[in-house]
Amino acid sequence: MSFPRTRLRRLRTGRAMRQLTQETRVTPADLIYPLFCLPGSGVRDPVASMPGVVRLSIDQLADEAKEIADLGVAGVILFGIPAAKDSRGSGAYADDGVVQRGLEAIAKAAPDLIRIADVCLCEYTDHGHCGVLEHGDVNNDETLPLLAQSSVSLARAGADVVAPSDMMDGRVGAIRTALDSAGFERCPILSYAAKYASAFYGPFRDAAESTPSEGDRRSYQMDPPNGREAMLEMAADLEEGADMLMVKPAMPYLDILRRARERFDVPLFAYQVSGEFSMLHAAAERGWIDLERGVEESLIGIRRAGADRIITYFAKEYARRGAR
Ligand code: PBG
Repeated sequence: MSFPRTRLRRLRTGRAMRQLTQETRVTPADLIYPLFCLPGSGVRDPVASMPGVVRLSIDQLADEAKEIADLGVAGVILFGIPAAKDSRGSGAYADDGVVQRGLEAIAKAAPDLIRIADVCLCEYTDHGHCGVLEHGDVNNDETLPLLAQSSVSLARAGADVVAPSDMMDGRVGAIRTALDSAGFERCPILSYAAKYASAFYGPFRDAAESTPSEGDRRSYQMDPPNGREAMLEMAADLEEGADMLMVKPAMPYLDILRRARERFDVPLFAYQVSGEFSMLHAAAERGWIDLERGVEESLIGIRRAGADRIITYFAKEYARRGAR
């Protein structure tokens, strides 16, 4: 049936009608907020390239966690900036590491807030790469035991979920085996399965002080032109025991989210990364786009593409604006 009997504008006449027929929604419970933990106390350190994002010392995390929980946001993902870095990233698997202690603080303050621990060495290595270096390249198999040790240490400190973001081959299997033999067979793995070597991580690397001192991450993170390869990464991670999958960044990779949604039935996460966040803020500051609408449209687009949940630095401000 077509015009004049069909008039698609009938369902767009007003806000209430549009809400009645809305296909996709984003609620605070769909969102995860990233937190950067610092050593020391009384520290609230704003990230210059990420408006509103503040790096916090452990003692500041309790109030922050309560606020996030009260907003109805589903959970947090933790990143750490250690007091000292070394070639093997030992801060990542120190039992009194900055994220380990942060997890404990958050668990006490807001027990129902989901605590996801990012698992990677790049914030902890003095060279800034995500694994152990050998002749200028990251040695895959030597990195695996360190990631496994880090995951066990984070689970012991109270992580509800561990999320490896290093992109080593075989890391999910190594982590699953280690968690199981340490008695953490109930700790799920959210794999950053399709993580691309992206320009959009720029502001995060300021925040996490994790820019590689030499070279780049292209020998381990994925090459942006490749979509089929992302399906191979995801299938491999599921085979190794991943419980949930992630695509990262989000907006330039919406096709990957859609393909993943059609192919895999596990919970699917998207990471709206630092550059996506800062870019919207920068354009809004110049008056070129409306921030609130831009944020809403970007989140809804990521959900419509197929993501169940979104890790985003906008989680708090989006939740604060209330129901829509
Ligand atoms: C660590 C990691 C990165 C991000 C999340 N985990 C950075 C990187 O690979 O350089 C990026 C997050 C963001 O940009 O918001 N491996």
